[in-house]
Amino acid sequence: MALDVRPIADGDTDSVIALWKAAGLTVPHNDPYEDIRFCQRSHNAEILLGFDANGLAATVMVGHDGHRGWYYYVGVAPDRQTSGLGREIMSAAEEWLKERGVGKAQLMIRPTNTRVKAFYERLGYDEEDRLVMAKRFRPAPDWQAGQTETMVIHLEMLARPDREPARPPKIGKRVTLEPMATPSVRFYRFLYNGVGGDWIWVSRRIMDDTALAAVLSRPGAEYYLLQVDGEPAGFCELERNEDGQDVELSYFGLLPDFIGLGIGRYFINAAIDLAWKPATKRVWVHTCDLDHPRALGNYQRAGFVPYAREIEVLPDPRLAGMPLPAEPDERGHAESSLFRDRVAAGKLRLVGENSPPS
Ligand SMILES: CC(C)(COP(=O)(O)OP(=O)(O)OC[C@H]1O[C@@H](n2cnc3c(N)ncnc32)[C@H](O)[C@@H]1OP(=O)(O)O)[C@@H](O)C(=O)NCCC(=O)NCCS
Repeated sequence: MALDVRPIADGDTDSVIALWKAAGLTVPHNDPYEDIRFCQRSHNAEILLGFDANGLAATVMVGHDGHRGWYYYVGVAPDRQTSGLGREIMSAAEEWLKERGVGKAQLMIRPTNTRVKAFYERLGYDEEDRLVMAKRFRPAPDWQAGQTETMVIHLEMLARPDREPARPPKIGKRVTLEPMATPSVRFYRFLYNGVGGDWIWVSRRIMDDTALAAVLSRPGAEYYLLQVDGEPAGFCELERNEDGQDVELSYFGLLPDFIGLGIGRYFINAAIDLAWKPATKRVWVHTCDLDHPRALGNYQRAGFVPYAREIEVLPDPRLAGMPLPAEPDERGHAESSLFRDRVAAGKLRLVGENSPPS
């Protein structure tokens, strides 16, 4: 056994919550401190911690309700995932339940966490045809009207990719990526709203002109305009820290008319080439489950490696004038919209329409 497993003790709380945050297990409407306190008061539940040579590596909250066993907060420190520790902490939790005579255990997976299903299947858990219903007995803290949530994935690369500098693709049109001076608010809105419209980019959309102008002229921000035969086709934005060692690819995307033309690979590689300068030690980016479904794979193919996930709360897109689910037309057909599809798929939870996941 690589893990030394024991129940949580006083003094563990901060490191446990740090692991939960790094593994993307905390949500704004659940206070993890209260969750720990409540579990510690229970006679039927326990938080088990797994330690390896580097300290706390895995957690599980396990308990039973007098009938079935349940698991929550199953997590492995991001730098130690996929080395068997998830299986090991789950096996400790299963033993905990078996020792108490529990014959069956179950768990719930958030709809935004699509990757984890395969993990539980490898451990012998099957999907069951049940409908989960829930009711809150007290209002969820921090869950306010006008907000929605998304799963954000952070990726980084710690060395310049070992390849030739990116060269424009041969698509019969001239493709260029050129630096741009701090853009005007109007032109930036054209790019940001155009690129991000389908992907619910909302944070800068809702800023007024003065606030946006201030953000655009912040030190360390760099802008690059992608053009195809002279027409704006996309943009990327880099944010270099003071000593130039750390660079965020803060925005990156194509305008809708230029998706699918074979420019994307050149564009991401060229953006990465621009990010890497002699002083650079790390380039990072984040994507979320509202982005283009291929965004994560594209970043990984370009050399980024995921290192953390988190739930982020953002303003409800309806408040920012984002495209809304269309009203049924005169023939009674409701137009399909990306926004509506995402709400239906449980990927975008709107306060008042979907109750928050527990
Ligand atoms: C889910 C999690 C606990 C798994 O722990 P882990 O240490 O990465 O997984 P392990 O290395 O123990 O994997 C056990 C098995 O599952 C498989 N597996 C793990 N993640 C997988 C994935 N995303 N897709 C397919 N298989 C996967 C492994 O290949 C391994 O199979 P094997 O033992 O038969 O070879 C960990 O990735 C994590 O903390 N994720 C973030 C938090 C989270 O999503 N928790 C679950 C909430 S419901």
